[in-house]
Amino acid sequence: MCGIFGSAARRDVADLIVRGLRHLEYRGYDSAGVAVVDGGDLKVVRREGRIDRLAEAVVSTGLHGSTGIGHTRWATHGESTERNAHPHRDGSGNLAVIHNGIIENHEVLRERLVGRGHAFSSETDSEVLPHLIEEHLKDQDLLGAVCSTVPELIGTFAFVVIDRTRPGVLVGARRDSPLVVGIGDGENYLASDVAALLEVTRDVVYLENGEVVELTPDSVRVIGPDGRERPAVAERVEWDAEATAKGGYRHFMAKEIDEQPAAVAKTLKRHVDAADERFLVPGLAPIADFLRSVQRVTIVACGTSWHAGLVGKFLIEERAGVPVEVDYASEFRYRDPILADRHLVVAISQSGETLDTLAAVRDARARGAKLLSIVNVQGSSLTRESDAVLLTDAGPEIGVASTKAFTTQLLVLQLLSLGLARLRDRRSVEETRAAVDGLRRVRAKMEECLEARDEVARAAERYARASDFLFLGRGVNYPIALEGALKLKEISYVHAEGYPAGEMKHGPIALIDRSLPVVVIATPGRVYEKAISNMQEVKARGGRILAVAAADDAAVAKLAETVLPVPVVDDSLSPLINVLPLQLLSYWIADLRGCDIDKPRNLAKSVTVE
Ligand code: M6R
Repeated sequence: MCGIFGSAARRDVADLIVRGLRHLEYRGYDSAGVAVVDGGDLKVVRREGRIDRLAEAVVSTGLHGSTGIGHTRWATHGESTERNAHPHRDGSGNLAVIHNGIIENHEVLRERLVGRGHAFSSETDSEVLPHLIEEHLKDQDLLGAVCSTVPELIGTFAFVVIDRTRPGVLVGARRDSPLVVGIGDGENYLASDVAALLEVTRDVVYLENGEVVELTPDSVRVIGPDGRERPAVAERVEWDAEATAKGGYRHFMAKEIDEQPAAVAKTLKRHVDAADERFLVPGLAPIADFLRSVQRVTIVACGTSWHAGLVGKFLIEERAGVPVEVDYASEFRYRDPILADRHLVVAISQSGETLDTLAAVRDARARGAKLLSIVNVQGSSLTRESDAVLLTDAGPEIGVASTKAFTTQLLVLQLLSLGLARLRDRRSVEETRAAVDGLRRVRAKMEECLEARDEVARAAERYARASDFLFLGRGVNYPIALEGALKLKEISYVHAEGYPAGEMKHGPIALIDRSLPVVVIATPGRVYEKAISNMQEVKARGGRILAVAAADDAAVAKLAETVLPVPVVDDSLSPLINVLPLQLLSYWIADLRGCDIDKPRNLAKSVTVE
């Protein structure tokens, strides 16, 4: 939600900021703006809509300056108008501020500030920030004023301020919203995520919650919530700039779908090459003793990551014999969850910054649970708050619809279930080695599956105008039905429901008629016959069946209008394969419907507000 980019340099940074914002556009695309300090002037350009409009305005207004900030907005308070676009100014006209998050006490603060003569020009919560900083600047420098502002705020934020009278200085602060410092050569940067910095640097300093940072072209000072300065030690990021480019594809989503076989293989290699002879992957080592006698597992996640968690439940319960619950992170924190003694909470998140997930794990840890995270973004908040971390190697995922993050999460959950089973002596080394060999073969199977992309594209033409879809799956593929429906909803705006196939007869069967495409996952495995029976039930009521099934499955061919062919693999591995045609189906349907695939309406990639 909202992207922030800023730089203190000795060259013109206006274009650099616009380029940084382009990498962050997935975080919000309602409006955008840039402010630069140019000589003694503070210049601000804001536009409603996409970064392209802002980029044109930056050029046409001749915006230049060596200190600057930029913002791309996902609206929370106030409509997506230019008036509500960031940066926001203070009354003196000296300050410009960009903000990501929600200032929950903004009304109280605004009232107080208005009482002191401050005039507001937007409907946003964010506009209180420049006015508060202005108040504190009366007797402090910019860094001090921000340090004094932070304790007055309730809510979540990452914000950055520049001051016309202090060229060359950027001051930022964060609490529960991400902000990363990029270290350059004679110039420094602030951004909402690492991917936005890769064009300029791979050396970053992750800010902790409650920290305030002051940047100049040559210095970085980080002040903790206790007012003490700490050394700003840079870490090297594994990703490179190339990974954030479209690489000849029309959409990031298409590129990211194709990247999955390699990403899954890379994730496997990261963990397995470094595993010991017991197949204890190094990421589990810090909590190995705890895992040996773990009593219960609760998986918390949102969206697609939650679907991965449902697959994880099947794998962990079956292999390691530990009971697993899967909770929506946004629900977990508003119940009174019962956490047993020796309770493991597993958080799954691509970004590692989803606020609901962070809030849930903080709650769980406060209740005494151990926290293991499965995260794609190295250095993200979740990785820094966990007792143990298993990274996925998806690389930067830019498309708002998650694809390669999902399949790499599935791969890590395979390893987690195998590792837990080993630690609890439920599987022999030989059995585990055989399972890992099976995982090594998944890459080739995924590649084979993606070769059918044109076939899926042709199928999409047949169904692109349907207004509703039903997705059915059973067992370990029930979460894949949910994921197929979510993909279709989010990028093509077509109503879709995912259901466990056995539940169809308890209600959704009433929806079936000749106009309803029903996608059934019917690959060989424990519940194959049941899936065939469910297809019979759909067919008997005139539903149009698209089956995800083996290409040579005669029983399926008799029942289905269309087969989305997949290679046959072991049942436990089938989610890694079966999700691919569903991703492709939603991609092609969205394309045929003329949707903005990488930036679907109303959505943001990283949901850092409640
Ligand atoms: O970064 P996270 O994995 O924590 O994000 C969770 C969800 O917001 C995310 O999976 C969302 O549902 C995607 N748009 C799905 O494609």
